[in-house]
Amino acid sequence: MTTCQVIYYSKGGTTGKVAGSIREGLQKAGCRVELCNIALSKPAPAREFDIIGIGAPVYYYQLPYNVADYLEDLPDLSGKYFFSFLLHSTYKFDAGNQLNRIMHSKNAKPLGQFQCFGEGYFVGYLKRGFMFSPDHPTKEELASASEFGADIIRRFKEGSSKPAEKDGSPPWVYRVERLFMSPWLVKNLYHRMFRVLRKKCTSCGICMDECPAGNITEDKKGQPVWGNNCILCLYCDYSCPENAISSPLNLPAFGPFLSYNVRQAAGDPGIDHVPVELRGGSLNRL
Ligand SMILES: Cc1cc2nc3c(=O)[nH]c(=O)nc-3n(C[C@H](O)[C@H](O)[C@H](O)COP(=O)(O)O)c2cc1C
Repeated sequence: MTTCQVIYYSKGGTTGKVAGSIREGLQKAGCRVELCNIALSKPAPAREFDIIGIGAPVYYYQLPYNVADYLEDLPDLSGKYFFSFLLHSTYKFDAGNQLNRIMHSKNAKPLGQFQCFGEGYFVGYLKRGFMFSPDHPTKEELASASEFGADIIRRFKEGSSKPAEKDGSPPWVYRVERLFMSPWLVKNLYHRMFRVLRKKCTSCGICMDECPAGNITEDKKGQPVWGNNCILCLYCDYSCPENAISSPLNLPAFGPFLSYNVRQAAGDPGIDHVPVELRGGSLNRL
């Protein structure tokens, strides 16, 4: 029996939903499937499977740092096949090229790439009152994901690989933003810029529980301290019931970029959005 490991990272749950639908399609086509969210558990060695599926949200027009690190650490995958799926709430641009480049360097053969919209929980936009791609993935997108899963097995059985088309570079503004969000800057600089307002923080520990990278520990008072394994998901800031966390995103240099992004995406008829209010860790649609 054909075996497939679907490795994905999902914090908001949308990538997990698509992973579930792809699994359904793979199983219908007679494949045994193992799912693993790398934010929750450690996957089995990839070489034990015939096909490896990789799923991720797009963060800052690239792969989330934990996903890129996971892929870079994979062994040589000669003789194995892979497919991928990416979720995005506004623009993914060429994030898929990054994934394909890494998998190509591991000698895995491509079977296809799926992409769809996913509800956006990026705090930079939510605090400006915008949620992009609410209620995505839709029923239709999930049905396409399931069909994609079945196609993967058909292609695998025929032994025909399907390289993903190369995406073009983003416009220069987004390329500059991506430079500002390089993993090097996060590991060496931005993780030091998280602040907790000592008087507001109640040491509830929610930020530590919410961190998908296990990057937040507590000091003697039970208040958060950030390590250098941050993936800049900003769920700590999002979830704080006291609004006591200030993230590097509050640097004045980022303000104009965030406003520009919101203007572009909100004016794009191809992208859904709803007005929201994020306060004290709870998000309300207005
Ligand atoms: C920190 C962060 C950065 C994001 N950056 C982008 C981006 O550059 N482009 C985009 O289209 N969506 C971006 N998003 C939205 C996510 O890709 C999208 O909401 C995805 O569905 C989330 O997946 P999940 O629910 O599985 O965590 C970002 C979300 C977060 C939290």
